[in-house]
Amino acid sequence: MTELADLSELARRRGFFFASNEAYGGTAGFYTFGPEGAALKRNVEEAWRDHFIRELGHMELEAPTVMPEPVFEASGHLDTFDDMILECGDCGATHRADHLVEDAVADIEDAEALPPERVADLVAEHDVACPSCGAPLADRPVDEFNLMFGTNIGPGSASPGYLRPETAQGIFVEFPRLKEYARNQLPFGVAQIGRAYRNEISPRRALVRVRELTQAELEHFVDPERDDPPLERVADVELPLYSAAAQQGDGGLETYTVRKAVDEGVVGSEWVAYYLGESMSFYERIGVDTDRFRYRQHLPGELSHYAADCWDAETEVGGDWVEVTGFAYRSDYDLRKHAEYSEEEFTVFRQYDEPKTVERATVDPDMSYLGPTFGEAAGDVADALEALARRDRSAFESEAQRVSEETSGDTPRDGDAVTVEVDDESYTLPVEKTGFAVEERTESGEHITPHVVEPSFGVDRLVYSVLVHRMETDEVDGEERSFLALPAGMAPTSVAVVPLMTKDGLDDRAHEVAEELRAAGLEVAYDDTGNIGRRYRRQDEVGTPYCVTVDYDTLEEDTVTVRERDSTDQERIAVDELPSAVRRLAAGATLSEL
Ligand code: GLY
Repeated sequence: MTELADLSELARRRGFFFASNEAYGGTAGFYTFGPEGAALKRNVEEAWRDHFIRELGHMELEAPTVMPEPVFEASGHLDTFDDMILECGDCGATHRADHLVEDAVADIEDAEALPPERVADLVAEHDVACPSCGAPLADRPVDEFNLMFGTNIGPGSASPGYLRPETAQGIFVEFPRLKEYARNQLPFGVAQIGRAYRNEISPRRALVRVRELTQAELEHFVDPERDDPPLERVADVELPLYSAAAQQGDGGLETYTVRKAVDEGVVGSEWVAYYLGESMSFYERIGVDTDRFRYRQHLPGELSHYAADCWDAETEVGGDWVEVTGFAYRSDYDLRKHAEYSEEEFTVFRQYDEPKTVERATVDPDMSYLGPTFGEAAGDVADALEALARRDRSAFESEAQRVSEETSGDTPRDGDAVTVEVDDESYTLPVEKTGFAVEERTESGEHITPHVVEPSFGVDRLVYSVLVHRMETDEVDGEERSFLALPAGMAPTSVAVVPLMTKDGLDDRAHEVAEELRAAGLEVAYDDTGNIGRRYRRQDEVGTPYCVTVDYDTLEEDTVTVRERDSTDQERIAVDELPSAVRRLAAGATLSEL
């Protein structure tokens, strides 16, 4: 069997994950985490929380998963969160058109960046056939398909909503409150671990392309002119980088320290480089094999609509590279858009080092003129004049200047007019009726829109990668053994208690030992089914790092055997030392150090 087939079999049989709703025929793109998988996923999330929230001093929130339509008009997802779809005219199966082209044309790796018409041409040129029924797809249209799941908020259709396609929007829309919570001080980071939804055209590769997923996202709000990342924390961390230049030329993976990657401009944003560095220890901690790992820069056509620069962390599973994290410099895109589409301010006040005297253009329109002249539009015209004065005072000044030059030559003042647009209508009025003036003011600061740096982790894909990378086999007592070499802190169960026999009071004592370990806060399994060798194998397969065996010496001496999963070495330990010993083992001590 292949590595991925082995994993699927193990995942189903031992309760890591399996396709959901199988009793009703299954629902493509949805997976249920069983008891082992849910525990592993929780440990990965806790490790993320510990590093990216607690250690880095950020905040966490929990926002709803359903959000109203205007949020996604502002974010751009309604217009641009699309994939290319192609429907077979014979069997009606739908496929991702860009994936069909990538599979059919050897030198095209990023068909998503091509326009739909070009993708349709390539389908025809390369005689692409329907993967489901084999019918030719040459004349089928390639359409855009929005990946958001739509719904209605409340009865009727007056208030459309969507299941969020990224947890990030739940953070951005709350920025006006969050900045108050952060006392208006940049930089600050807000994180969220939660579900996101994408109505994938072709869900595939188990947990890799699913329709409901868990994201762990950090939105770090920074002042682009004043805030620098604490690069010294990670300056010497080594990054395996696969840059856009290397992808476009014939370069390959190159290892850079964070410092070198920044100094040589390989990673353009210091903030992105900083988070690439911070993340390496997290991947190692959860059990990603860093020899099957790389950071890949997005090619220009691949960038999301909001991203100015983006790198992906990718893991190798089953011979393919899978994106497990996106590191995006989102600039001020999201906050600017929400400011434009909502009634709120998405800025923070940046204090100047010294107060500054500045010129401000103002208007004070003569409403006794605007009212009769523009009727119902007068208020909007006044607002438009104010906005124009802020944006482009020369629209008032250059006209006045021109007129003053003309009048000095005794020509009539017939040109001192200014024009504004309201709802696609133009309104022109004399500058003198606008009350335009330029005032000098002393200001202590200005309102700026923060920029956002975003590390966005796909938790399901990380869990999948860790499982693939940690599946190992060896030989024990002349038999092949499979085990999951999970780091102790990630294992669903910290320790299993197994009585040698289920008689002579061994099982009662084993239950007591298990209770004592549970009372000490450890995740404990109790297993007395089958022979002892089979029980060890069962625990090895789900990654339990230690088994505690209660035998006849336990009854005599109150000691137990502790068996280590990877080496299968065993040590005898006093029962009353067991909880602290298992904790030390989980923190990295070896059996011989106890
Ligand atoms: N927030 C980034 C993403 O969902 O891809």
